[in-house]
Amino acid sequence: MKTLKTSLSKKDVLSIADLSANEINLILKVACRLKKEWKSGRGRQLLRGKTLGMIFQKPSTRTRVSFEVGMSQLGGDAVYLSANDIQLSRGETIEDTAKTLSLYLDCIMARVYDHTEVQKLATYASVPVINGLSDAFHPCQILADLMTIQEHKKKLKGLQLAWLGDGDNVCNDLMLGCAKTGISMTAACPKGYEPLEEVVMLAKQEGKKTGSDIVITEDPAAAAKDADVVVTDTFISIGKEGERATREAMFLPKYQVSSETMKLAKKGAIFMHCLPAKRGQEVTSEVIDGTSSVVWSEAENRLHVQKALLCLLMKAV
Ligand code: CP
Ligand code: NVA
Repeated sequence: MKTLKTSLSKKDVLSIADLSANEINLILKVACRLKKEWKSGRGRQLLRGKTLGMIFQKPSTRTRVSFEVGMSQLGGDAVYLSANDIQLSRGETIEDTAKTLSLYLDCIMARVYDHTEVQKLATYASVPVINGLSDAFHPCQILADLMTIQEHKKKLKGLQLAWLGDGDNVCNDLMLGCAKTGISMTAACPKGYEPLEEVVMLAKQEGKKTGSDIVITEDPAAAAKDADVVVTDTFISIGKEGERATREAMFLPKYQVSSETMKLAKKGAIFMHCLPAKRGQEVTSEVIDGTSSVVWSEAENRLHVQKALLCLLMKAV
């Protein structure tokens, strides 16, 4: 299979839920190949003549730059569209925006607040749509995370992953990614900050097929115990700044990943964070800047998995 399967005339990737286990494996395989080729100076212009449009309602460092550079490395172009600068900001509908952009672009990546907006964009666009982060999901991040885990642990199936903190957009898709690839995941989140209920249900169902055990707890020590991978994210996602005081009171210090947390994990456990990170909040400097941290591989792999995804969606490999 050389393209991502779809029953429609195009494929959208709005969540890890949109990808089968085979498709995830295919993306990781192509990503490894593209990474090797690029690093050895044998990069191919697989997307020459193709243009990606990138709609951003929220700020970004990694997503914007890795998509833009990824398109450039593949010989294509990327157009940055700040949501404030296009007619969407003056009330043009998502439907009309999607139809118009599909006339010029070969693929659209969008970072939005409300997940239903990227869903609507995908419904009306005739080109593939990729979610570059919504309030509910962050599929590109999780593809990079799986690639990073595979590189550092030499496998996915059978590993134990601990999530500490907010059951946010990254946690939702990570849970699906773990379930589909046979990684067991325990998420320790305060009450009221768990991942989405329907996601947990879906992950548990998927996990039954792969042997992945999905557990939600309030106990960070139970999650970290014997983990191969320890993951966290900001306690204050974009758009939640108004909840800072409440969130800090809920999460700190109990859910912070510290050296004590890492001592509970398996020997040789790795620490991951999608970034941006707040040292002294969700993670201590000692951990994120220490020897168990693989956050820079994780950030780099955004580039490689997204290049693979773009090639597969635009049927260039
Ligand atoms: N991890 C991630 O998506 O980073 P940015 O918000 O900088 O794009
Ligand atoms: N959960 C974070 C992820 C940032 C990449 C947020 O939504 O801000």
